[in-house]
Amino acid sequence: MKILITGGAGYIGSHTLRQFLKTSHELYVLDNLSKGSQTSLEDLSRIRNFEFFKQDLSDFKGLKELFKTQKFDAVVHFAASIEVFESMQNPLKYYINNTANTANLIQTCLENGVFKFIFSSTAATYGEPKTPVVSETSPLMPINPYGKSKLMSEELLRDASVAFPEFKHCILRYFNVAGACMDFKLGQRYPKATLLIKVAAEVAAGKREKLFIFGEDYETKDGTCIRDFIHVDDISSAHLVALEYLKDNASDVFNVGYGHGFSVKEVIETMKKVSGVDFKVEIAARRAGDPSVLISDASKIRSLTSWQPQFDDLELICRSAFEWEKQC
Ligand SMILES: NC(=O)c1ccc[n+]([C@@H]2O[C@H](COP(=O)([O-])OP(=O)(O)OC[C@H]3O[C@@H](n4cnc5c(N)ncnc54)[C@H](O)[C@@H]3O)[C@@H](O)[C@H]2O)c1
Repeated sequence: MKILITGGAGYIGSHTLRQFLKTSHELYVLDNLSKGSQTSLEDLSRIRNFEFFKQDLSDFKGLKELFKTQKFDAVVHFAASIEVFESMQNPLKYYINNTANTANLIQTCLENGVFKFIFSSTAATYGEPKTPVVSETSPLMPINPYGKSKLMSEELLRDASVAFPEFKHCILRYFNVAGACMDFKLGQRYPKATLLIKVAAEVAAGKREKLFIFGEDYETKDGTCIRDFIHVDDISSAHLVALEYLKDNASDVFNVGYGHGFSVKEVIETMKKVSGVDFKVEIAARRAGDPSVLISDASKIRSLTSWQPQFDDLELICRSAFEWEKQC
């Protein structure tokens, strides 16, 4: 297939591109490089050729021209703004970049006969769940504009597939993505990252002075938030599986996580252990929009698809993030 990967220069997009490059699909990347990395793309082009369009999704005219000339078979849509805290301060940025641009992308697919669409959604669509473990049928009640912007995009996809049944989509709700490729040749280059394991790796590698714990008074075993951390290569492989799934199945939605969680303090202890660095940690106030516990029920993707995670090991995830951080 001829596949367009939006946001392919970003963290998860580039790891997924790397896995797709090992298949026979023809690959095309669209990214405005606002957060993505040209260096990652250059490194990946050594595996094999793919075409890169430095383009912004909000350039609707440019997008239509691209689709007319390229005749894609499928779109894997990663491009988005991703910071929960920023979305509380600048919500319209999220509705425009994540929802409006996705609406236009879907419309462009429909107009050009691109009937397979894989979408990066998020556990943030569940908001502050009443149960610690959430399945795909749990209530969707996002508590921040980031989560809402993603839920609206999910609704756009569902409505489009009802109106045009030949248009099939797969929504992947990722939990907390972390780590780097196990050969340490690719990792997260996100500037001023806010994701815990990335920040912990930066502190351990001496790139930041200290790590902040945002809130120590949650109703959890040690007072810090609990998350389902999943290795980026296991998230990436879910996209290959999702595309395969759409061949013989209707549109669907899957949680992508390991089904168990670790607290912020447990992650910090693990990072200290694997790095051998007893870095400085400071307690700060809670951040608005952070739920206390968020863990996936990932039984659906495991039972309906061939997805087989390989890196369900917090030490391994932290080690990969630390090793990458030392050399990038
Ligand atoms: N990182 C996580 O833990 C996590 C969890 C759940 C869901 N997700 C979702 O996964 C996707 C990828 O996240 P990531 O962590 O790789 O983020 P990232 O910022 O590293 O990647 C996003 C990429 O999209 C590009 N981009 C953003 N807006 C664009 C636009 N208007 N036009 C063209 N390119 C644009 C950026 O330059 C970047 O390369 C996002 O949709 C995010 O919501 C991520």
